[in-house]
Amino acid sequence: MKTSWKNVLKTILCCVAMMTSLVSCQKAKDNPLKWWQSTIVYEVYPRSFYDTAGTGYGTIKGITEKLAYLHDLGVGALWITPVYKSPMIDGGYDVADYYEIDPSFGSMADMDELIAKAKAQNIRIIMDMVFNHTSDQSKWFQESKKDKTNKYANWYIWRDPAPDGGAPTNWRSIFGGSAWTYSKERNQYYLHTFASAQPDLNWANPEVRKALIDVAKYWVNKGVGGFRLDACTYIKKPKVFVNGKPDATDGLVSIHNMTANQDGILDYLHEFKNEVTKGTDLFVVGEANGVNAADLPLWVGENGVFDMIFEFSHMHVTQGAAEKWIYANKNWQLTDLKQALSATQANTAKNGWCPVFFENHDQPRSINNFIKDEAAKGSPEAAKMLATVLFTLRGTPFVYQGEELGYANIAWPSIDDYEDVNSKPQYDFALQEGFSKAEALQSVWNFSRDNARTPMQWNDGLNAGFTTGKPWLPIHQDYQTYNVKTEKEDPDSVLNYYYKLKDLRLTHPELIKGDYQEILPDNENIYAFTRTFVGKTVVVLANFSNNEVAYDLSILPAESKLLLSSQGNTQKGKLQPLEAVVYEY
Ligand code: GLC
Repeated sequence: MKTSWKNVLKTILCCVAMMTSLVSCQKAKDNPLKWWQSTIVYEVYPRSFYDTAGTGYGTIKGITEKLAYLHDLGVGALWITPVYKSPMIDGGYDVADYYEIDPSFGSMADMDELIAKAKAQNIRIIMDMVFNHTSDQSKWFQESKKDKTNKYANWYIWRDPAPDGGAPTNWRSIFGGSAWTYSKERNQYYLHTFASAQPDLNWANPEVRKALIDVAKYWVNKGVGGFRLDACTYIKKPKVFVNGKPDATDGLVSIHNMTANQDGILDYLHEFKNEVTKGTDLFVVGEANGVNAADLPLWVGENGVFDMIFEFSHMHVTQGAAEKWIYANKNWQLTDLKQALSATQANTAKNGWCPVFFENHDQPRSINNFIKDEAAKGSPEAAKMLATVLFTLRGTPFVYQGEELGYANIAWPSIDDYEDVNSKPQYDFALQEGFSKAEALQSVWNFSRDNARTPMQWNDGLNAGFTTGKPWLPIHQDYQTYNVKTEKEDPDSVLNYYYKLKDLRLTHPELIKGDYQEILPDNENIYAFTRTFVGKTVVVLANFSNNEVAYDLSILPAESKLLLSSQGNTQKGKLQPLEAVVYEY
C-alpha cells in the first residue's frame, strides 16, 4: 500500500495536536482550582434579606432559613455585609464592636448556627471586615477622643485645626462635605473618609494593626470561609497632608484623589495576609477602588495580598471614577465597558483571579445601569443577557441578592424617601453645582444605593414575604412579578435562567478554566468573547442593544453547537434584542 505524503502530514499534525492537548491537560491537572474559583459567591445584605422576628429588619436566622435556596443556586460562599454591633448610620459599615452581633440581626449564637448550618450545605461564610474605620460609638474612638494621652489617643487620625481654626485640609469625604470633623474634647479634627460617624483608624500605629488582626483571627476561629476587606485602598494615609486643587464649587477635593493607594499600603496588607490567611484555604477579596488593572499582579495571585480584588473600572464606565452622581457619564459606549472588562481579564489571565460582578449593595441594579436604551432598562431580557456574561467571563461570579430575580431600580418621588447615607449629600451636591431639583433627583434614581437595598421578594403576598412587620425600606412595586415563588414556577423566569447558567458553568470546564479572548472588539451592540480550554471553545455573544443585530458568521465555525440562548433562539448570524447565546465547538 502506498502512503501518500498528505496522509503522513495528517498523522504528524494529529500527533502534535494530541501532544499539545496532553500537555495542556497535564498543565490543567497540575494546577488544581481553589474552592472559591469554581463556585459562585452570593452577597447578602442581611437587613433586607429575610426577617424572622417580625421587626421589619432582616435577621441572621433569616439567612439560615434560606440556605437551601442559596444551595440550589450553586452558591458555595456567602458574603454577608456587616452584622456587627453598630448604630447603623451606614447600614452596619460603622462598626461599634467587631466582637458582637447587632441585636437587630440576632445574637452570636445565631451567627454560630449560620456558620455551622451553611458549612453543612457546603456554603462558607465570608465576613465583611470594615477595617479602614470604626463607628464613632466604638469604645476605641470614645476613648481616643477624650484627650491626647489616653491609651487609644493615637488610634485615629487626629490633626490640629488650620491656622484659621478650620479643617486641616480641603478634602471632601466620599459621602460629601469635609472629611474632617471637629472634636472639642481634644480641640482637634479627626479624619473620616466616609461619614463623620465613621472615623478612620490609624494603621500607622502597630497597636491598631494588631487589634484588627486579632479581630480577623477571632472570626477565623469561628470557622468562616474568608473575608471581604472593605474600603482597603484608604488604610494608608500620605506622609504629609496637603490641600488639593478644588474639583467643585465647594472648594474641596475628593479625598480619594489625595489618599487612595499610598506607597507602602501593600506592606500593611502583606502583614495581614501573613498573620491571618497565609497557608490556609480562606479566601480574601479586597474592595480596592482605584487599583489600576495594570497593578493587579501586586494585589492578587501568588505574590499579591488577596485572592481577588473588586476594582471598579467597569462600574466607572457609567458612573465616572469621581463618584459624583450628577456628573455620571451619560454618553458611555459599549466598547468602553468591553475594554474595562477585557483589561481585567487580561491582567488576571496569567496571575491571580478576579470576581465577576455587576451589582453589589452600593450599586444600582445592573439592568438599569448597563443598558443604554431607555425602553429596555429594567427588563427581564436584559437580566438574562447580563447574567450570561456574568457566568461566562473568567473569574468567580458574584451574584447580589435580587439580581437573580431580575430586580430593577426604584424611583421614589422625593429625596426624603431615601435612607442611604450617601443619597442626600449627593443630591445636595448636585443642587450646589447648579443643577435643578429634577436633575438632582434623577441622579439619585440612577445611582442611589437604596436601589440595591429594597427587601428581598420571596413571594407575591404581604410585604413580598420579607417580613410580617413594617419593612424598614419599602418593597419594590414590581414584587408581584419578580419574586422567588412566582419565578420558580415560571420556566422562562430570570431565576430559572440562573439555574441553567449555573449548570452550564459546572458542566463546561472551558467556562471555569478557559482562556478569555475578546472578539468583535469594535462592535457597539454585541459583547463577544471566547473561552478556550483543552481543545474546546465556547463562544459567548451578548446583544446589549434593544435591536435585532446581525454578526458575521465567520466567528462561529460550522460545527458550533448552541449550548444556551437567553431567548430560545437558534438562528445563527442574528441576535434578538438583548439576546445572549452561548455556542461551543
Ligand atoms: C464600602 C462599602 C460601603 C460603605 C463604605 C464605607 O465601600 O461597600 O457600603 O458605605 O465602604 O464603609
